[in-house]
Order: sequence, then C-alpha cells, then structure tokens
Amino acid sequence: MVKPYSIAVLPGDGIGPEVIAEAERALEAAGDRFGIEFTLRRFPVGAAGVAAGGDPLPEVTREAVTRADAVLLGAVGDPALDKAPRHLKPETGLLALRALLGVFANLRPVSVHPALVGRSPLKADRLRGADLLIVRELTGGLYYGEPRGRAASRAVNTLAYSVVEVERVARIAFAAARRRRRHVTSVDKANVLEVSQLWRDTVTAVGREYPDVALDHLYVDTAAMRLVAEPAAFDVILTENMFGDILSDEAAVLAGSLGLLPSASLGSGPGLFEPIHGSAPDIAGRDVANPIGAIATVAMLLRHGLGLAEPAHAVEQAIFLALEQGARTRDIAEAGAPALGTRAMGARIAGLVSSPPVPLSVRRGGTSSVPPLPKGEGVRG
Ligand code: IPM
Ligand code: MN
Repeated sequence: MVKPYSIAVLPGDGIGPEVIAEAERALEAAGDRFGIEFTLRRFPVGAAGVAAGGDPLPEVTREAVTRADAVLLGAVGDPALDKAPRHLKPETGLLALRALLGVFANLRPVSVHPALVGRSPLKADRLRGADLLIVRELTGGLYYGEPRGRAASRAVNTLAYSVVEVERVARIAFAAARRRRRHVTSVDKANVLEVSQLWRDTVTAVGREYPDVALDHLYVDTAAMRLVAEPAAFDVILTENMFGDILSDEAAVLAGSLGLLPSASLGSGPGLFEPIHGSAPDIAGRDVANPIGAIATVAMLLRHGLGLAEPAHAVEQAIFLALEQGARTRDIAEAGAPALGTRAMGARIAGLVSSPPVPLSVRRGGTSSVPPLPKGEGVRG
C-alpha cells in the first residue's frame, strides 16, 4: 500500500478554523476520488498557540511541521494580542514558521473568474485578460532584518538582502514564467534604495539564464498604479517581502475579494500553504467567511507540495464550476442577493470535486480529449 501523505494542519485564529474545515473537506474529497490517502493532524499556531502552549509557534507544532509532507495553515491574528510583547504576537508565530521551514518563495496567483468581473470595483474592460502571479520573497527583508527594536522616541527595522537570497527567489519566478506567458516584472525602489539596486542587478543577471523570458523592472510606486490601471500587462511579478505583501492585497481587488486567493510558500523542505487573507476576527464564528481561498490553497498544496497535478486540477475545476453555477458567499454576492455560508459553499465545492458534472464535450458525443464511452453505456449528467 502507498504510504499516506502526512499533512500538518494549522487552523490558527479567527476564521482560520472555519475555512480550514472546508479545505480539509475538499482535500478528503480529492483523496477519495483519486485513491490517495491523507493523514491530517491539527496543531496550534498564532493566538491559538499562545492559548494552548504559551507560544504562537509551540514546540509540538514546530516538530510536526518539519516532519510533514506539507503544511496547511488557516490564518493568524487576534486583536486581543495587538499590544502583547513581540514574542507572544500571533504574527511572530507565522514569521517563525516561515523561517523554520525556509519557505523563501511565496507564490500568489491572481486571476478573475468571468462570473465575478462585476464584483471588482475596477471597470470590466480593465480586468479583461488579467491573470498574474506574484512571487514574493518571504524570509528576508524588513520582516526579518537585524537590528530591529523600539525605544520610547525611536524605532528601527532593517532592510537587507544578500545576492543569494535574491537569486534563489528570482529563479523560482523565471521558472514559473516559463510555464506561463514568459514575462517577469521585477518590482523594486532602485531609484532610492541600495538594497533595490542589488536586487535589480541580481535579477538582471539571473534573467540571462532565461533568455526566453522577457524581463522588465518597475519601481514599486509605478507598479502599484499599473496593477489597477492595466493589470493585464503583468504575468509574473517578482518582488521583495514587504512590497509583495502590499501588492498582493492590492491585486486581490482584481479578483473581487481577498477571500478567494490562495498562496504557496516553497523552500527546500515541506511547503507551507495558506490563503492570503487574514483571521478576520470581525466575522469569525458566524459561518460567513469565504472558504474559496483556503480550498484553492489545497489545490496549490496538491500541485506544488505533493506533485499531484490531477487532483489539484479537479479542486480548481470544482471552484470554477461552483462560481459559474452562481454559488456565492457574502463577500462576492450581489448586494441584497442570497449568499451561502462557509459550510454550504465548502459542501458545494467538495461535491463537485467528488462527482464533477460530465464535461460538455462528452455530452455532445465525445472528442479527442475524452475517451469514447463503451457502446450502450448512458451518459450521466
Ligand atoms: C500575509 C500577512 C502576513 C504578512 C502577516 C499576518 C504577518 O499579511 O501573509 O500577507 O505580512 O506576511
Ligand atoms: Mn498580507
């Protein structure tokens, strides 16, 4: 028998546990359909880690994640800990987790489902063709630089990158571009920052290894503007930690809701997979959060974490179909229109993973992409 994949599940705080329950449901559905076994074990992180073990990344969690095949995380953050000392903040647990796993490349794809074009505040004609991938450096830059600290009347953070740190994330971006539209836009602030000058020079040098991929550079202020003015101009955006954090929330506006978007964080060990949204304490526990970001994260876990392309595709298809059929959570519903709760949306998508509708091409009698049905067998659907 094939050994089950071991997934460490870190639901975290706020809406994290609710959306993760639906992500697990989609993962189990994919496993059942494709005959793959997953062992899901839950561990605390964030405020839940502080509550359980006095640490936003308790030892039991540290140990589990390094041994897992992949890590699935909900969200961290709790306003009750906003003023806590840094070592007790939920966000500190997340940063420590990223550092522990060495996941230096954070992939944040953003595309616009045709049925949700009207949900974005941007004009429909701007959104046409928008389909981009942000590759955010995740374990360096301002989030981790030393020295850091705060005194009464002054505070310090440090922005530093080494050539090696830039090279390795750049290679991920160029490799991803090869599987897409072969265009990398590197985002920096090289007109002001020495770190950005090193970033730009290093990315340019790595780019020579990928002569088939076009490379251009934008200052982050210009990139922020172009992202909403002309989003279809981007394919892969490669940028440092803080710029990537900001630009990815901005890019979520294209999709229509932050609640839709997944991410994968990759290094040399187990990958870390989390939706890009936060813990949303204001809507936690009310069955209204959108689980699609977390379920789309399961697809990234399957593809990038476990190398299981077919089940990954099935999960993505199920999300696409649910939206096409008009399934909407509150954040993406038309004003005043009825909306599904978190669990109902999760159930709908899991159902479509388990038994997808027969593709149109089959209903019409088969095409080359679908094997012909045996004679006399009825077509479902
Ligand atoms: C994200 C989040 C985190 C980040 C926070 C919670 C530390 O905003 O994943 O984008 O800034 O990286
Ligand atoms: Mn963020």
